[in-house]
Amino acid sequence: MEIRKIGIVGAGQMGNGIAHVMSLAGYDVMLNDISDDALSNAMDLMKSNMERQVSRGKITADQLSDALSRINCTTTLSELGRTDLIIEAATERETVKQAIFEDLVPHLQPHTILTSNTSSISITRLASRTDRPEKFMGFHFMNPVPVMQLVELIRGIATDEPTFSACKEVVEKLDKTAASAEDFPAFIVNRILMPMINEAVYTLYEGVGSVQSIDSSLKLGANHPMGPLELADFIGLDTCLAIMNVLHDGLADTKYRPCPLLTKYVEAGWLGRKTDRGFYDYR
Ligand code: CAA
Repeated sequence: MEIRKIGIVGAGQMGNGIAHVMSLAGYDVMLNDISDDALSNAMDLMKSNMERQVSRGKITADQLSDALSRINCTTTLSELGRTDLIIEAATERETVKQAIFEDLVPHLQPHTILTSNTSSISITRLASRTDRPEKFMGFHFMNPVPVMQLVELIRGIATDEPTFSACKEVVEKLDKTAASAEDFPAFIVNRILMPMINEAVYTLYEGVGSVQSIDSSLKLGANHPMGPLELADFIGLDTCLAIMNVLHDGLADTKYRPCPLLTKYVEAGWLGRKTDRGFYDYR
């Protein structure tokens, strides 16, 4: 089955990055969010990110205008019914994602594939809330989407082969690399990355090092492009905590216990770059 039209639910950090790469690859995009402001902010951000790509010679000005003209915005989920593939990129809360899929189902065409950009939640459980578990899978991008090469593709227990192949073809058309992961808590990237970030927060909590010394140790000592605390701020501390909770609950092992300091920051509303305050102060 050929995918031409892609629906994206959520115009935040991940959703706008996904719309960016899909439209540049030639797909028609229907971008959905509950707020008009979120949609217009996403369009502005995509335009400025694409302008930077033009100024660095990565894409042409014509590619930029063609891509932006392929993106339509809507605040109604029903409009996504006419697409071939839907990628849900809402907040990392299972109840929110379940409600979105339940609202989408009555509007879908029979062939529409449903996917979630979840970074940790069970694909099998999300699929079970829809009428098409065989046409449901995980489609997990990394942040920043236009820059990161990897997409994790996760089969739920019922995902059929045509669905997996259709999603893999989309990843190839984006010039990205697909890694196939089984449906266990946090899949591959976050199963490994989040415990490292959580351990960095414990290292801070126990006074082993300062924010600066922890980050520069990993940057200069292990060649990471960003230190773990800087990366946590970039991803969002609420997302990091949500993923640690999925690991802790799903694998029932105390080694995944979220650091109390991470919980405290999230409770304070210090979520990282998106709220101008996290381990660093961006104000
Ligand atoms: N859109 C488009 N392009 C972008 C961009 C964006 N949002 N952000 C950065 N770029 C581009 C820049 O234009 C630049 O392009 P050129 O090479 O053509 O000049 C390139 O990326 C590098 O950017 P900068 O020079 O501004 O900055 P940098 O060299 O410090 O790199 C970074 C920035 C790519 C973000 C780098 O710090 C990095 O790789 N950090 C680690 C990111 C990471 O680990 N991501 C995974 C997070 S985990 C995840 O996403 C999974 C999950 O579920 C939580």
